[in-house]
Amino acid sequence: MRRREYEAPAALGLELFETSEAFHLAGAAADGELVLKTLHGVVDDGWLCFHGAPAGEKTSLLGCQVVVSVEETVARVPSYFVDTERACPATTLFRAAQARGVLTAIDEPARKARVLQRLMEKLQPEGGHQPIEATSPLYRAAVKGLLIAGVSLGELTAKAKLMQNKNDETRARVLEQLWLRGAPGDVRAIELILAANPSTTTPAFLQGPRGVRLHACLHSAAQSSGHLDEAVALLRGAYWNDVFTEAELGAAHRGSPVWVGATDEQGALIGTARAITDTSKYAWVYDVCVRPDWRGRGVGQALMTLVLDHPQVRRCRRIRLGTRDAQTLYARFGFVDTSMLRRPYVTTEMVLVR
Ligand SMILES: CC(C)(COP(=O)(O)OP(=O)(O)OC[C@H]1O[C@@H](n2cnc3c(N)ncnc32)[C@H](O)[C@@H]1OP(=O)(O)O)[C@@H](O)C(=O)NCCC(=O)NCCS
Repeated sequence: MRRREYEAPAALGLELFETSEAFHLAGAAADGELVLKTLHGVVDDGWLCFHGAPAGEKTSLLGCQVVVSVEETVARVPSYFVDTERACPATTLFRAAQARGVLTAIDEPARKARVLQRLMEKLQPEGGHQPIEATSPLYRAAVKGLLIAGVSLGELTAKAKLMQNKNDETRARVLEQLWLRGAPGDVRAIELILAANPSTTTPAFLQGPRGVRLHACLHSAAQSSGHLDEAVALLRGAYWNDVFTEAELGAAHRGSPVWVGATDEQGALIGTARAITDTSKYAWVYDVCVRPDWRGRGVGQALMTLVLDHPQVRRCRRIRLGTRDAQTLYARFGFVDTSMLRRPYVTTEMVLVR
């Protein structure tokens, strides 16, 4: 890799191949024909595997050196984020991975079936079919007839272009601009840039109490660092959650467009808050919670400040929440009891309980 500062751990490459729906396969067949295909694949036992018809372009690459690649755009950074005159600073932040190896046919029926089953789990996670097994009369012929091929991911290189080549001042400006722009993916991009450049000065919108790191998007780190489990553990047993299961709490966080949090110096989650929003009329803040040993030190207020300034919430004309006893906390942000609202009509707050 020419620019070593963009080099990323192989684990990132593996994650990209595991989570991306499609990847590219390129190589020169034995007859010299150049082949480039876009394929759906799964990682199985350290190999990137895919399926196809036994005769075709992909088959012509069997036994040949190939390269597989995957990429994800993180954010477009327009030049004017950095320089209002010159176009040169325009760039695209991305994460990508490549692996080289010999394309090899997988012949063992049990492994072929396992790859096909994994493909189904990835592309049709809702199920709705009998599991694919090599010995099943439903699948025996299909498993035998299909080509399953793979490339070892042993020689994997991963790259993450996340402003490592910029100085702290430029990064700070771009982080601020991404927060202001708030286009889809921008808040996640902020987290990825900060994770890739740990010495970056904390931007103003993420400044919290001493010893606390605020996160504008817990979705980006939730899977790998277990923040989802930590959030569920914090919220389990809260009075407003007694009717919800842990699975429902987890799904609610995954499904919320806004999920912010706070971690301590060891990286443990000490506070969480989420909101659902239409970005314009209404947002509804839920599940604000701080770990008991951190309460009373300003974490709750920092999380609320972050939620209210979040790009998906900041333009909403009405922001709602419900609380049993933390009214004074929210009153500081301007929240009032809904009975104080002057309306030209009377409505009944209704709910369908299932
Ligand atoms: C409510 C909660 C999120 C506040 O977090 P926190 O980090 O302790 O809050 P902060 O330190 O930023 O601010 C606390 C301030 O809010 C006030 N406050 C009002 N109601 C409060 C309450 N029920 N609990 C804690 N603080 C409350 C405190 O008096 C304090 O004021 P002060 O700064 O003048 O001392 C936290 O106590 C918590 O997780 N409680 C359990 C879960 C909960 O009730 N969540 C709210 C449901 S809507």
